Amino acid sequence: MLKLGVLASGRGSNFQAIIDSIKAGYLPASVSVLITDNPGAYAVKRAEDNGIPPLVMSPSGYPSHDSYYAAVADELKRRGVDLVILAGFMRVVRKPLIDAFRMRIMNIHPALLPSFPGLHGQRQAVNYGVKLSGCTVHFVDEGMDTGPVIIQAAVPVYHDDTEESLSERILKYEHRIFPYAIKLFAEGRLHVEGRVVKVLSHSKEDAVVVNPPLDG
Ligand code: GRF
Repeated sequence: MLKLGVLASGRGSNFQAIIDSIKAGYLPASVSVLITDNPGAYAVKRAEDNGIPPLVMSPSGYPSHDSYYAAVADELKRRGVDLVILAGFMRVVRKPLIDAFRMRIMNIHPALLPSFPGLHGQRQAVNYGVKLSGCTVHFVDEGMDTGPVIIQAAVPVYHDDTEESLSERILKYEHRIFPYAIKLFAEGRLHVEGRVVKVLSHSKEDAVVVNPPLDG
């Protein structure tokens, strides 16, 4: 069964959605470790409540960012992790980790990439005035939210939306598409060609979630 290593810095609601999907029998995987850079993260409590060992690793304990990510990669390898999940990990991961898990690191971003990468994707969308935003699960490469897109969900943006109201609307879809993307990986159905991810033997529409539905 697929072994996940989850990296999270904060409240961990996506981590929880993954735990719940495993418990419900939807996701054929287990979580081997939660690694956090923030000992106060609520994600730590979620790990403890679910019998997942939390491991606090702070970059301040390492001479360089690269050596920090090399140590993180070692911890993940030592536990036999197959797929690394960035679930609100508030740092740009560096080459030693990316090289050790090439196309085996997934991130969720709260915007329709390549629009609004980096911090505060929801605020950027509200301030720009776009009418659609959403969330993206992608493989992680060396850039800032630039890796191959696996699945996206779109939601409307209303003229009276705030960062908070849009974030709430998007988050519901994050919790759906992240477990789904991991499930596709677990089933060996993601094939990466250049920067295009194909979902094998599956409806090609399944990598796109539109709300409200076109026929709704
Ligand atoms: C989410 O909005 C995710 O898209 C972004 O960080 C946030 C993490 O939320 N990468 P949570 O910790 O999973 O609740």
